[in-house]
Amino acid sequence: MGLWGGRFQQGSSNMFRQVNDSLPFDRILASQDIRGSIIWSKAIAKAGVMSAQEQEKIEATLNKLLIKAENDELDFDASSEEDIHSFVEAALIEELGDLGRKLHTGRSRNDQVATDFRLWCKEHLENLLQDLVKVKHALTKSADVNREVILPGYTHLQRAQPVRYPHWCLAYIEMFKRDISRVQDLLIRMDQCPLGSGALAGTVYAIDRQEIAEQLGFKSPCLNSLDAVSDRDYVLELLFCASTSMMHLSRMAEDLIFFNSGEAGFITLGDAVTSGSSLMPQKKNPDALELIRGKCGRVFGSLQGLLVTMKGLPLAYNKDMQEDKEGAFDAVNQWHICLCIASEVIDSIQLDSERCAQAARQGYANATEMADYLVEKGIPFRTAHDISGQIVLAAIEQNKPIEALSLPELQQYSDKIQDDVYAILELDYLVDKRSILGGTGAQPVFTALQNELDQMQQGS
Ligand code: ARG
Repeated sequence: MGLWGGRFQQGSSNMFRQVNDSLPFDRILASQDIRGSIIWSKAIAKAGVMSAQEQEKIEATLNKLLIKAENDELDFDASSEEDIHSFVEAALIEELGDLGRKLHTGRSRNDQVATDFRLWCKEHLENLLQDLVKVKHALTKSADVNREVILPGYTHLQRAQPVRYPHWCLAYIEMFKRDISRVQDLLIRMDQCPLGSGALAGTVYAIDRQEIAEQLGFKSPCLNSLDAVSDRDYVLELLFCASTSMMHLSRMAEDLIFFNSGEAGFITLGDAVTSGSSLMPQKKNPDALELIRGKCGRVFGSLQGLLVTMKGLPLAYNKDMQEDKEGAFDAVNQWHICLCIASEVIDSIQLDSERCAQAARQGYANATEMADYLVEKGIPFRTAHDISGQIVLAAIEQNKPIEALSLPELQQYSDKIQDDVYAILELDYLVDKRSILGGTGAQPVFTALQNELDQMQQGS
């Protein structure tokens, strides 16, 4: 009858155990739970609940458990405990008898689980920051070795205007930088320790909550016990960070899947991150990228799931909240895997610069240039747009690019057109003309890339 035995005359039904027990999944919090317990034992010893010698014994036993936890040696499967908190406490009692029964004084599993889970999220978010930096670096390196490659930029998946490949890389770098800053913001906001909030109303023992917080690596304690035990905003925010970042990864994956298609043929991907077909020997499929795209579903689902779980819950702790963990554990794991494989895929990209340039020249991507040329010659943009459109139509009818039309042909649409027009229709020219901050010209792109290269050198 475990933790609450006194008041109960009958044991739990098997089905109840199945719905109620969380040890099968919250075992992942073992080391956080033990570390929290060590700090708690110090705090209550200081408050006079036990002697210094008693505390030392408890701490020594918990330290042995911690080593086992870190070496994956705790035998959870042999345990009939309900959750990781009762598991750790039971292990302590088994070793120390009555002394072990003192640890839970003034503490509740409600403030315990809130503390454990915050610690776990903080640690994993720190690791995910490194994963995000790795993707950023992979993109920076790929941009650097393919500086001169120009490929079509798309809107509506129609060739729109040519862009430098590093410009494409830098677009995703911007997204991953925002992901990084979102995680950093979250780490600041969640840096408060719930321990000492008791079940919901605080504790009667004279513990030092600021000290507990600092010993566990938090900046300060949570300020309201009701909120502290029932707040799962940090999990929701983590899931939002994961979802947004996965969305970014999926868009990048989709671009690369298209670039890698037979139709585009702009890139090839390494053997190590693609797979073949069991039937069609010629195939080399971008499975890693498709899985990045595909795994978004479960990560977004976890965010949605927890929002629905939390909606309308009365203060303070409710067992519904035990459902906060599995989705978050899975989302963090998938996000980590996807960031790592994305870095590998990017490292493996080989560009076909000729094919990229060829595609960039097709599709009348220089029609805007034609219009801008006419604007420079004094024609209002709307009229210039119209003239350029007519020229495109004529070129389409002849199945030629604009620049293959002769000067007299072009002059049928405007007598302002001179033979200086051919230079501005060139691919490099029209790309580099966009030298405005944030544009795809060599100047802004290489300046932004240099910034990233400098940051990479500094490890950030
Ligand atoms: N296993 C529980 C959870 O994950 C721990 C808290 C249990 N608290 C309680 N009052 N039953 O939420």
